[in-house]
Amino acid sequence: MTTQDTTAPVIELRHVEKSFGDIHVLKDINLAVKTGEVVVVIGPSGSGKSTLCRTINRLESIDSGEILISGKPLPEEGAELAAVRAELGMVFQSFNLFAHMSILRNVTIGPTEVLGMSRADAEREAMELLERVGVADQAEKVPAQLSGGQQQRVAIARSLAMHPKAMLFDEPTSALDPEMINEVLDVMVRLAGQGMTMIVVTHEMSFARRVADRVVFMADGQILEEGAPEEFFENPKTERAREFLDSIRGH
Ligand SMILES: Nc1ncnc2c1ncn2[C@@H]1O[C@H](COP(=O)(O)OP(=O)(O)OP(=O)(O)O)[C@@H](O)[C@H]1O
Ligand SMILES: [Mg+2]
Repeated sequence: MTTQDTTAPVIELRHVEKSFGDIHVLKDINLAVKTGEVVVVIGPSGSGKSTLCRTINRLESIDSGEILISGKPLPEEGAELAAVRAELGMVFQSFNLFAHMSILRNVTIGPTEVLGMSRADAEREAMELLERVGVADQAEKVPAQLSGGQQQRVAIARSLAMHPKAMLFDEPTSALDPEMINEVLDVMVRLAGQGMTMIVVTHEMSFARRVADRVVFMADGQILEEGAPEEFFENPKTERAREFLDSIRGH
């Protein structure tokens, strides 16, 4: 592997454009996320938040612009792309655990199959991670035997087992019953406190206020505003952001 530029942003998008047919989904997106930074992305449905996340690990291709991971252009395909993907943990709204595997195996399969770790080492580390997210006692069960909040915490542990340099969260709590939301957010708050670089798509404003270094507001495929959370939530500059904040505050 080539040497890493440690001064470069962990994730950087430059003039990224993406369309699905006639729909222009990402319009001149510029975003740089530094080591340890937590960026919360909010915006109306259809504004391009998920597409933005998916382009960062190339689950979606882009039409033009550049995406750099630690200063290096995102590889197009092949083993190099797989290596970069392994460095970016991704947690979705749906938990995407392997249904027929134990919780423990869900967490060890990446490390043993992709990182080449021994089963014993992978299991030791997996148990530590499951402990960290508070579900170590569920290790022998299969996903269907866990609550949604527990499954989502397993999904986070599974991502962390790959030693990612950044984590992308796309509405990780929006499919959860209210009483399970905080147990997942608490894990994310702790992760942020430990210095993980994170991009988090969420409408959980308490989370954004507590941990975001920066809030990015997207609408119609554009970044319309970005700023510190208190500044954005108290004094949104655009009418669009004001309307959106009113709508999620239930006015
Ligand atoms: N695979 C696809 N093919 C065609 N259109 C798509 C595809 N994925 C997303 N889109 C469209 O791109 C736009 C942006 O979608 P995206 O899912 O990124 O929005 P979002 O901000 O994540 O919305 P939500 O808050 O509802 O999750 C929408 O108009 C959507 O219909
Ligand atoms: Mg989405």
